[in-house]
Amino acid sequence: MKAGLCLGTVVAAVCVFCAEATAIASSGVEMLNYSMPGGDSGLRLAWRPDSTSQWQPLGYDFVKNDFGPWGSHKKMYAPRLFVNASDSLWTAVWEAMPEGDVFALSTTDDFSVWSPQRYFASELDLPRDMRPLNPLRADSATVDGVRVGGYVQHVSRGFIDRLASFVASRAGRAALHAERAADDSLRFAGLDTVRMTLVPRPAEEKKISDKLIGIFFEDINYAADGGLYAELIQNRDFEYDPSDRRGDNNWNATTAWSTEGDGVFEIRTDDPIHYNNPHYASVRGNGKFALINSGFDFIPLRKGESYDFSMKARVPEKPLVVDVQLVDAVGNIVSSKKIKIRSKEWTDYSVSLKAKANVDDSRLRIVFAPGSEADLDMVSLFPARTFKGRRNGLRDDLARTLADMRPRFVRFPGGCVAHGDGIDNIYDWKGSIGPLEARKALRNLWGYHQTRGLGYYEYFLFCEDIGAEPLPVLSAGVPCQNSGDHARHSTCTLNTLGQQGGIPWEEMPAYVQDVLDLIEYANGDVTTEWGARRAADGHPAPFNMKYLGIGNEDMITEVFEPRFRMIYDAVRERYPEITVIGTVGPFYEGSDYEAGWELARRLDIPMVDEHYYVEPGWYVHNRDFYDSYPRGGTQVYLGEYASHIPGRKNTLETALSIALYLTDIERNADVVAMTSYAPLLAKKKHTQWKPDLIYFNNTEVFPTVDYEVQKIYGNNSGDSYIPAFANTDNSNPAVNTRIGTSVVRDSASGDYIVKLVNFLPVPVVATVDMEPLGVKADKCDGVILSGNPDDGDVRPEAISVSLPDLVLPPYSFLTFRVR
Ligand code: AHR
Repeated sequence: MKAGLCLGTVVAAVCVFCAEATAIASSGVEMLNYSMPGGDSGLRLAWRPDSTSQWQPLGYDFVKNDFGPWGSHKKMYAPRLFVNASDSLWTAVWEAMPEGDVFALSTTDDFSVWSPQRYFASELDLPRDMRPLNPLRADSATVDGVRVGGYVQHVSRGFIDRLASFVASRAGRAALHAERAADDSLRFAGLDTVRMTLVPRPAEEKKISDKLIGIFFEDINYAADGGLYAELIQNRDFEYDPSDRRGDNNWNATTAWSTEGDGVFEIRTDDPIHYNNPHYASVRGNGKFALINSGFDFIPLRKGESYDFSMKARVPEKPLVVDVQLVDAVGNIVSSKKIKIRSKEWTDYSVSLKAKANVDDSRLRIVFAPGSEADLDMVSLFPARTFKGRRNGLRDDLARTLADMRPRFVRFPGGCVAHGDGIDNIYDWKGSIGPLEARKALRNLWGYHQTRGLGYYEYFLFCEDIGAEPLPVLSAGVPCQNSGDHARHSTCTLNTLGQQGGIPWEEMPAYVQDVLDLIEYANGDVTTEWGARRAADGHPAPFNMKYLGIGNEDMITEVFEPRFRMIYDAVRERYPEITVIGTVGPFYEGSDYEAGWELARRLDIPMVDEHYYVEPGWYVHNRDFYDSYPRGGTQVYLGEYASHIPGRKNTLETALSIALYLTDIERNADVVAMTSYAPLLAKKKHTQWKPDLIYFNNTEVFPTVDYEVQKIYGNNSGDSYIPAFANTDNSNPAVNTRIGTSVVRDSASGDYIVKLVNFLPVPVVATVDMEPLGVKADKCDGVILSGNPDDGDVRPEAISVSLPDLVLPPYSFLTFRVR
């Protein structure tokens, strides 16, 4: 859809190679195709005028292997490039795993966009007309001093020239994307204050989405257990499993638990509370004995605050009394209460504990008298103060930080977590509702454990509590293509081999029913089966869900498409009012983007989810990205995006690049309906992915400067956009592309909201003429972010703005309301 559009001056759509393909001669120059030793590159090409000359590399990965998990895999071995017989397209075939038992195939007619990759168990399984035949021949060559294996064929010199010019255009584009504020003093040497006038054109006002700024919650970086979910006990259900975290010998059903004194602590599975929660602790105190939980990096307590302890327990014989204590690092008791366990059946016990002191690193200690025996499970401690006072609720400070952004929707539960690491790890929403002991714990593909105490019910409730639309994302019947070693073990049939696997066909009807059941759970009345389940969970009124994501940046393949379609058709038929959000891959271009958009147009999917994690320069040089998107058809949900710099820090530079781009998104918010920065939350010392929007530890929340941008946009959204004529006294495109303006109107308040971004190292003196809007304003309330682009600690300041003339300091983002 977009190839050649976004950087019109730099990238030319290169559609000339297909013609060339048929014209390959036995003369001309030699072209070598190869990959680097160890598979450490994509498909590379080099050429030489004759066999006595040096190979000259073109220096570009024309296509990269997408098979296998991130990290150790995604390598390309023994690539071969040829023109296939059936459609004369250039075709690359390579080995996708070091063992040589997976073959990949992709075709192209322009060396820019490649078809979705297909994987085969054997070379013999490749379609007949796509088998690499003559005139290829194996060779071994030295390119830039490195010995590589490859294949040689003859092409014309013109062909190489066109490839070289394509590579040069890509390099030019990459250089633009890599532009950094640190180079601005050179780039803009001699630049003085820029003067700008801004004149709104109310006659061209257009409706835009009123759901533009939302949040994307994924349990990554300990965002849920140990994070937003307020539970303070780690491994409360003794369900941690070595498979959650391969290679960690300390990760098992006893993780975070320890003992003191003379006794026995064992994990048992006979006669558990629930078959979904098979493990429990069995304790026998020979002498005085204690079971201790260290929480998630210990348990923070605040003086005077109450904490709700609960557990399920039973005794084999005689009743006993346990002392439930919260203790500091050296064992001093900060709070304690006794509980008498009487029953031989699993029974709930609870007490409220009040902290006598502030302690950041306390532990839970359950003390047993000599001779006592008991079984325990679901050992839990919650602060009484949770967000909105919900039981089984959310951490108040974190949830408030999210609510303060005024997100219009919440996407959950992932990301990769939603489609999972293999079919068995797909996030089954039904396993995340109901009584806590009946929920199915799930391995988290980010290498830890999900109790799913924060499950679908709690997500819906949170959305309701903050006035945001729920946007659940379900797998499209395929797991994450980047995940672990299930690659070879998933359901593989000819042509469906691949890490993407796919739920077996015979199981798809049941899966589709699960999807429909989710909509009934959210919206059905209490007389329906799943509406009744929602009521039993505590919420008789429907949650009024309007959006449903199907798929997460999946490869758009022959495994994906029919499964997606089966789900999509069923939802459309049964619930036409639901806006289904499809997926178009993990990048702003490429095979999955192209194929995903083609599918969206073909199936008339209401909205698709785009993702891109790119450099600040990408945002600066792609401000027109959505300008040419067709209106009136499929809309865009920019579901994951962030600005990445080396070191992956959040700085004013990353934040301003997004503030700038969001002015363009507002301009295009008739086609871009929703956006959410990603990832949202990260616990310090457990951060697996950077940058994130909000960091936290057990006691503090650290919103980033990127958060401040999202918050300003969330609190200053409109539902119509007023185009404005922005004119500067500088004709340098590099200057003008670093200035952003946006005027929106919020029909609820009637306010006009003006956003101005100055991503330049010099001030911009702006004259903002509000007269065309029929409003007279000389002083308005505003908020400004400004400072050093490297600084991550910039905070917004309230400001009184005098109109019409104002000054935007270097590197600043100003928002003001005209009431
Ligand atoms: O946001 C982190 C991850 O990035 C998401 O899980 C996935 O969708 C994307 O690759």
